[in-house]
Amino acid sequence: MQMNTKLLHGYPVIDPATGASSIPKYQASTFNSPALGVNHDYMYTRFGNPTVHALEEGIASLENAKYAYAFSSGMAAISTTLMLLKQNEHIILPIKVYGGTGEFAHSFLSRYGVEVSFVDFSDINKIEQAIKDNTAFIYLETPSNPLLDVTDIQEVVALAKKYNILTIADNTFMTPVYQKPLDLGCDIVIESMTKFINGHSDVIAGAVATNNSQIAKTLYDFQKEFGGILGVEDAWLILRGMKTLGLRMSQSVKNAQAIAEFLQKSDKVNKVYFPGLATSNDYAIQNKQAKNGGCVLSFELKKCDKISLNKFIHALKIPIFAVSLGGVESILSHPATMSHACLSPEEREAQGVTDGLLRLSCGIEDTEDLLEDLTNALQSIDD
Ligand SMILES: Cc1ncc(COP(=O)(O)O)c(C=O)c1O
Repeated sequence: MQMNTKLLHGYPVIDPATGASSIPKYQASTFNSPALGVNHDYMYTRFGNPTVHALEEGIASLENAKYAYAFSSGMAAISTTLMLLKQNEHIILPIKVYGGTGEFAHSFLSRYGVEVSFVDFSDINKIEQAIKDNTAFIYLETPSNPLLDVTDIQEVVALAKKYNILTIADNTFMTPVYQKPLDLGCDIVIESMTKFINGHSDVIAGAVATNNSQIAKTLYDFQKEFGGILGVEDAWLILRGMKTLGLRMSQSVKNAQAIAEFLQKSDKVNKVYFPGLATSNDYAIQNKQAKNGGCVLSFELKKCDKISLNKFIHALKIPIFAVSLGGVESILSHPATMSHACLSPEEREAQGVTDGLLRLSCGIEDTEDLLEDLTNALQSIDD
């Protein structure tokens, strides 16, 4: 079954109890037991709920995973997964990991006696040098945020397997539609479903999937006992949004590719970061492990003083100016004052997050309208 068909038919989409064409919102915290010691499939929604379960089966199906669990946010999925680490174990993460993940690893894991190393993932030798006897996990995120650096997933997996280390991949930017980390050998994949999977900028949610039954059991226990479960209404909204994930993303990819090529030719733009550009250093690796360059690109304006940036941002009529990505609407953000504001100027500089850098998550608008809007906004810088 191919992806668009799978998104509509590849997991429970019909309610088994009534035949309803959309899994209903089983908005119940508890389920009546028919007799003493006899339970239905569901008992209490923190332990499992039919609407949430349908979504979990959907995610498992898309990731080619046996098990998937839904959480109340991408960060709940990430922090719950990182709690698989035990005292005195060690984890390696990319320096350019999502800020919340970096903060959790740095400030929280260390409180529980877990050792954490942040490494430059552009060099596999640096990852290998960071491996210690107690390294239990390598965590990767590709493409990275906001500069879209690509990590060779299979290369990292091969290294990890050599040392008997497990790999976790945050696949939020590509989604299982375009990149399948489990098929590439990773042990665990994480998605912030807040982004493309839900796709309508109206839900915060996360998911974890794996084929490892032992890890799955622990993740289920953690989901139940930490209690960071996804609400029923949100699960239903994602089930609804997910049906068009393939169609939405293909228009967004088309827009990202056209915009990246357009910006690259503009004399008002200093640099474009997009692994779908044939001139990108990451183009070959990206094409090896993903279906395309994705829907997110970043760029740096030549004139990047505050006045010029403000003129450009205000002249743009279509994208909303906001944190986040992966919505049906294009979203422009300014990493230095938004997603990366918590870093010091020196840390931002080291990561290449300059004050002039803008990130664009391409929505599903018509390409011509987005290009016209960008043309006018670039023009306005000199007005
Ligand atoms: C790559 C990545 N992972 C995880 C997250 C966290 O997801 P959430 O905001 O759903 O907790 C984000 C949020 O922007 C992200 O960009």
